[in-house]
Amino acid sequence: MFGEDDGMLTVDGVRIDEIVQKTGTPVYVTSYGKLMENLRAYKSAFPNQRLLYAVKANYNLAILKIIQKEGFGADVFSMGELYLALLAGFKPESILFNGNSKSDEEILAGIRAGVKFSVDSLDELYTISDMAIKEGKEVEIAFRVNPDVSPETHPKIATGLKKSKFGIPWEQTVEAYRIAYELPNVIPKGIHCHIGSQILSASPFIEAINRLFDVSAEIQKIGIELEFMDIGGGLGIDYEGTGSLSKEDFSKEILSVFEKRRDEINPELELWLEPGRSIVGDTTVLITRVNSVKRAYKNFVAVDAGFNTLIRPAMYNAYHRVSVANKLNRKNEEVYTIAGPICESGDILAEDRKLPVVEKGDLIAVYDAGAYGFVMSSQYNGRPRCAEVLAKDGEFYIIREREDIADIVGKQKIPELLF
Ligand code: LLP
Repeated sequence: MFGEDDGMLTVDGVRIDEIVQKTGTPVYVTSYGKLMENLRAYKSAFPNQRLLYAVKANYNLAILKIIQKEGFGADVFSMGELYLALLAGFKPESILFNGNSKSDEEILAGIRAGVKFSVDSLDELYTISDMAIKEGKEVEIAFRVNPDVSPETHPKIATGLKKSKFGIPWEQTVEAYRIAYELPNVIPKGIHCHIGSQILSASPFIEAINRLFDVSAEIQKIGIELEFMDIGGGLGIDYEGTGSLSKEDFSKEILSVFEKRRDEINPELELWLEPGRSIVGDTTVLITRVNSVKRAYKNFVAVDAGFNTLIRPAMYNAYHRVSVANKLNRKNEEVYTIAGPICESGDILAEDRKLPVVEKGDLIAVYDAGAYGFVMSSQYNGRPRCAEVLAKDGEFYIIREREDIADIVGKQKIPELLF
């Protein structure tokens, strides 16, 4: 939980200045308390549904472990994510392997691990069947269906539109299930979609659910008994501090439709969800130090985190609230633009924000950085990736060491002939 001690930002009772003294900056700091609050809110909003955490949002092992211990399953999108989920203790039967471009190696790893698959194309289906035969295994699958619905979100994160690369076009879905029904060693058990991310209203989800039910009725006629309907992730969070759809209200709206239509298919049909951002997004602040303040065309505050550390503002024009973490008890007086250290004009974390007077050495907190933060960071401009910290009950734990220059150089080689 975020608080204040004499003007200094605290996370679960730990002062930020104590953390940065140990780790340096930039550093991602996660609140255990906030994470538990989100997990419990999901469990109470969806008590009888299956919740698979979308590992891509934040795959720090300590965070995965907390989520796994709360009884969540995992949605993974690569062999790396599969490995991380298994390492954190998720049981294979609670893992769904998603992805629109799984390599043969990834498919084999998933089959050997015994996870379920969300299948994105017929090519993938045939590969799974062939490999499952060779491995002597039966693989439970769902197809990812493209329901062609339009969520109101950033175009780069809308994934359920007809023109999107994801899923089987919904007009071709019944035929895909017919083929799967007849193929050996694959067992169609569910139907899946994911329409996008940072969605702030239940209506596009409801549209997608209705589409899935329409198609499911046709699938049942083939003789397939569907056991689950997975409606993906996508519930947004309140980046702007203006309020958003709560997990509870989201659940009420979704469940009222799902429960009304479930009997058409199977009274035991399970609803699955794959939340990522709405579990980890608001649990974490990115702390970055001010290297200089310059009064130019604008008041530029140059900090040590840029789009190499948090890419969301540069990539999606995303808004993240910021504060001067060591001056929380001062009045906002001047308008500043927070710029990163990368050699590109687009490297701006926050634009035109009214803050207390900022000076060299201050600490800037960038809020809601727990989802698609560290996991999307890079070493661009030869900058090692930063540390991650977990704060809990007045103590803090380094859950990822800061990289150093060796991590940039490590895998590189200069061929002999160049010397
Ligand atoms: N399931 C599937 C199949 C997904 O592709 C995603 C996210 C999720 C679940 C989780 O969605 P969430 O609950 O987190 O919205 N980097 C972007 C977001 C990309 C989302 C990709 N897929 C951002 O920073 O906004």
